[in-house]
Amino acid sequence: MEEREERQEPATGSHFVGKKEDLIKAKRSFRTVEGRDILVLYHQEIFYALDFHSYHAGGPLQNGDIEEFDGKLCIVCPKHKFKISLAKGESIYRATNPYDPVPTPRWYSKGIKQRIHTVTEI
Ligand code: FES
Repeated sequence: MEEREERQEPATGSHFVGKKEDLIKAKRSFRTVEGRDILVLYHQEIFYALDFHSYHAGGPLQNGDIEEFDGKLCIVCPKHKFKISLAKGESIYRATNPYDPVPTPRWYSKGIKQRIHTVTEI
């Protein structure tokens, strides 16, 4: 089995990833920047960019639904349904604390898990 080399350093500098109108029309675009696969998203008139493969087990995020959870716009990885915020790459999940007198589901954060990238419009 071939292993992907895990890149620890973020891509450096700025990279042209496409014309604004083309990225808007496509809504989801795949790019490779310095060997790193990136998903560029245009959603609700905002650009986002994050690593193309889910931090969990490499699921292809370009096929994920985008939904709001706990006030955060997230992409739902199609492989295991992990929810990753578009703005920060935060992974969130819903659970109950069994020690609560009345266990009530609420959202928790696993922290920033998915690498995101800055999109600059020029
Ligand atoms: S591979 Fe994406 S949630 Fe598991």
